[in-house]
Amino acid sequence: MKKLITLLLFIAFISCKKEAPKHGLITKNAMVVSARVEASNIGKQILQQGGNVFDAMLATDLALAVAYPYAGNLGGGGFMIYRLNNGDIGAIDYREKAPLAATKNMYLDSIGNVIPDMSTRGAMAVGVPGTIAGIFEVHKRFGTLPLEKIMQPVIDLARKGIIVTKKQEDRLLEKRPDFLNTNKDTILFAKDWKENNIIVQNNLANTLTAIMQNGSDEFYKGETAKKIAKFIQANGGIITENDLANYKPKWRTPITFNYDDLRVISMSPPSSGGIAMAQVLKSVENYDLNTFGHNSVKTIQVLAEAERRAYADRSYYLGDPDFVNVPQNKLISDAYLSKRMSDFSFEKATPSTAISHGTVAIVESDETTHYSIVDQFGNAIAVTTTLNSGYGSKLYSEELGFFFNNEMDDFSSKPGVPNVYGLIGAEANAILPEKRMLSSMTPTIVEKDGKLLMSLGTPGGSTIITSVLQTILNVHEFDMTMQEAVNAPRFHHQWLPDEIRMEPNRFSKETIKALKQKGYIINEERSPVIGIVDGILVLPDGKLEGGADTRGDDTAAGF
Ligand code: DON
Repeated sequence: MKKLITLLLFIAFISCKKEAPKHGLITKNAMVVSARVEASNIGKQILQQGGNVFDAMLATDLALAVAYPYAGNLGGGGFMIYRLNNGDIGAIDYREKAPLAATKNMYLDSIGNVIPDMSTRGAMAVGVPGTIAGIFEVHKRFGTLPLEKIMQPVIDLARKGIIVTKKQEDRLLEKRPDFLNTNKDTILFAKDWKENNIIVQNNLANTLTAIMQNGSDEFYKGETAKKIAKFIQANGGIITENDLANYKPKWRTPITFNYDDLRVISMSPPSSGGIAMAQVLKSVENYDLNTFGHNSVKTIQVLAEAERRAYADRSYYLGDPDFVNVPQNKLISDAYLSKRMSDFSFEKATPSTAISHGTVAIVESDETTHYSIVDQFGNAIAVTTTLNSGYGSKLYSEELGFFFNNEMDDFSSKPGVPNVYGLIGAEANAILPEKRMLSSMTPTIVEKDGKLLMSLGTPGGSTIITSVLQTILNVHEFDMTMQEAVNAPRFHHQWLPDEIRMEPNRFSKETIKALKQKGYIINEERSPVIGIVDGILVLPDGKLEGGADTRGDDTAAGF
C-alpha cells in the first residue's frame, strides 16, 4: 500500500511537473515566442541566418498568418514596440483605419439602435488593413536580410501545409457556421478539419509571392489591392482602392513610466494599453504587493480597484490621437492617480455606479496574437497583431487566401453601448473616416537598471492590459520565472460590468468568499481563460527564458 501511495505521489509529481514546468525554454543568444511552433521556428531560422529582430518579425508575423489564421493575418493590423541594443526605443502603429466612406452612425438603424452583427460580421465590419504596410515599413527601416530570404520559408510553409492542432480543430468547428453564413461560397477553412490534417494554402502562397516580388505596394496599390476592393464591395462593404492606396502606418512614441526600479515601455494611443497599464501600476506602486501575496485578497482588491478606475478613464478619454486630444500626461501623473485612488478602502468595494453607469454584455474570446523576439545582438521587440475576433469578420477571400478583420467593432458604435468586449466608448472613440479604432493591445518591453528585462504581450480584448500587468508583477513582485508568470491564474476588472472576472477554479474558495464579503461580484463563468501571454525574460546571467502560455499552442524557440 505504502509503495502504491509513493508511486501515485510520484506520478502526480511527474504529471504536475509536466503541466507546469518551472522554467520555460532557456537559450543563450536569441529567442522567439509565438502562438505556433511553425512561426517560432521560422523566426528562429531567420535569426540563425544572421537576421535581426526586425527580419524575424516579418517572417514570424507572416508565418502566423499562414499557421494561425485565427489571429495571424494579412487582413488585420497591430502594434510593435522595439528596444534596440543601444537603448533606443520606439513603436509602430499599423492599426486598421475606418474607410473614407465610414460615418459615425453607420452601424445604427433609422431609430438609432445598433444593428446586430453589422460591426462584427461580414464586409461592413472590415477596417482598412495595416499589417502588410506595417511590417514592410519596419523592414525598410531596420531590416538587414533581403525579402526573399525572409519570405520564402513562409511561402513554402503555405504550400507544404500546416498541421491542424486539437485547439485549432475545436476553433474551426466552432466558427464553421459563421464561415458559411458570412461567405457567399464555402471556404477552405469551413471544411471538416480534424487534428493532424494538413491545410495547404496555395492561394495564400501566391498572394505572398506577389507581395514578395512587388513589395507592400502590391497589397495597397497593385493587383492585390484591386482584388481586395472588388471582393469587399461585392460582399456589401465600402472599402475602395483609394482607401488602400491611402493607408500609411505610423511611427509613434511609446508610453514610458517607472514602477519601482523598472521602466515600462508600452503602446501609446490609438492603443489604450500603455496608458491604462501605467495608471494601474502607478496606482498600486505604493502598496506592498509582495507582502500581501500573489492573488491574495488584498492584492486582488487593490488591483481591481485601480483597474476599475483606469477602464472608466479609458472609456471616456481615449481614442485615435490623430483625431482627438488625449490628455495622456495628466492621466498618468502621480497627482491625478493618487486623487483617483483616494476613495479606495480595503474595507469594501467601490461600486462602479459611483463612477458611472451602463449595461453590459460580453462575448469572451482570446483571438488576437502576440509574439516576442530577442535577437543575438540584444535587440528586442514585442508585437501584438489581430483580426479582432477569431478569424475576424469571417469574410475570407478564397482567391487571395486570407481573412479580413472586424476591427470596426472596436469603435464605439453608439455612446454607452458596449462592443464585443463589453467596453463602452464615448465621443473620443466615435467613427470618422480614416480614424483608427481604440485598441487594448499592449505589446510591452520592460527595462531594469537601464537594461532589457522582458518583452511580453497577449491577446484577450479588454483583458489584455490586465493580463500584461499581472505578468510583470508576477516576475517583479512575486519572483516567478517567465514560464510561471505567464501560467499563473489571472483576474480582470474593467469598470463595467462591475465584477471581477476570474479564471474558473484557479482561485481559492476562501479568497473568493472574502472578496464577496467586501462587496465584490465574482464571475468565474465568463472567461475560461484570461489572456494567452507570451514573453521573454533576460535572466541575471544574460540568458533568455521564454514563457509560452500553456493556455494555447504557444511555443518558444531559440538558440
Ligand atoms: O485591439 C483590440 O483591443 C482588440 N481588437 C483585440 C482583440 C483581441 O484581443 C481578441 N482576443 N480576445
